[in-house]
Amino acid sequence: MSSTWGNNIKVSIFGQSHSEAIGVCVDGFPAGEGVDVAELERFLRRRAPGHDPMSTARCEADRPKILCGVVNGVTCGAPFAAIIENTDTRSGDYADLIDVPRPSHADYPAHVKYKGFQDVRGGGHFSGRLTAPLCIAGGICLQILRRRGIEICAHIASVGNVEDERFTPLGVSEAEIKTLSEKKFAVINDAQGAQMQQDILRAKSEGDSIGGSIECIIQGVPAGIGGPLFGGLDGALSVAMFGVPAVKGVEFGDGFACTRLRGSEHNDPYRIKDGRVVTKSNHAGGILGGISTGMPILLHVAIKPTASIAIEQESVSLSAMENRNLTILGRHDPCIVPRAVPVIEAAAAIAILDALPNTNI
Ligand SMILES: Cc1cc2nc3c(=O)[nH]c(=O)nc-3n(C[C@H](O)[C@H](O)[C@H](O)COP(=O)(O)O)c2cc1C
Repeated sequence: MSSTWGNNIKVSIFGQSHSEAIGVCVDGFPAGEGVDVAELERFLRRRAPGHDPMSTARCEADRPKILCGVVNGVTCGAPFAAIIENTDTRSGDYADLIDVPRPSHADYPAHVKYKGFQDVRGGGHFSGRLTAPLCIAGGICLQILRRRGIEICAHIASVGNVEDERFTPLGVSEAEIKTLSEKKFAVINDAQGAQMQQDILRAKSEGDSIGGSIECIIQGVPAGIGGPLFGGLDGALSVAMFGVPAVKGVEFGDGFACTRLRGSEHNDPYRIKDGRVVTKSNHAGGILGGISTGMPILLHVAIKPTASIAIEQESVSLSAMENRNLTILGRHDPCIVPRAVPVIEAAAAIAILDALPNTNI
């Protein structure tokens, strides 16, 4: 099992949902970068569970303990490592899952690959909990990128059939970014957000779950970052997005909707503005030929409904090799989308910092 990614910065995530701790190592953070721990903790709190009825009842403080790589609040160039202790575990809830895999969770393929030795407690290394260390690495990347004029912001684009307004493809203001990052339920349109929250609570009360999507904008990336074919910035961002458990689709700009357009509708005309090349529209979502255009990068990420639901489901007993019904215990998010918003920002930040040249690496 290896959960390591990146070229210029290498991010390794370790731990299991119910192990002593979870954590992250990062090789290659540029030296001399300030790490604002209070800001990092604020960022992690946006993902942390147990603070409202729409998330799992598992209550974790998620305070990172930085072990190395930072001296007097500044990166020193040595490998960085941080952990978060797991404090609120109820492993007994997962005892049956070693034999009876949860439909649509990773239990069965992990059982085959790791020969039944995988840690099933709380989903083990496949748990959404592993996105907390991802947010430590990504939270620091966000701070570094901000100093280079790059801002990353995400919001809940949809829950079930309820849709939020979308970002203006030509860019959003500092004030909009700040407002969204401070919202408990990160939507642009609060009335739509209220409807989404009702739908999440209804799914929960029925022992069910619900999916949705997240939109992310990355502003300030200069033109010329990335490369063609397998070296694309869109490819790198996609790998980072699919590293987030429960992500099932990624679109850039108009995405699949471009299939319904003509070239004359979809092409983004070039203009000169303040001495720089810009486009009048941004259907491309800021990347052409795998290379950034200098326009905002727009991502839309699909998140599936939580696999662990309270309704009885059909499964199998792997030891008896017979059909078996399963009732899942444990504490689960009825909708992953609200907690995944900062995770998407973190994953995007890692991919962008990794792609930037001359970051003193
Ligand atoms: C923030 C976050 C929280 C999650 N919480 C749960 C959960 O409570 N229950 C669950 O079954 N899956 C949860 N997941 C998703 C699973 O980890 C994921 O579905 C599983 O590992 C299988 O991987 P896949 O869905 O990417 O195929 C969560 C994911 C994220 C990002």
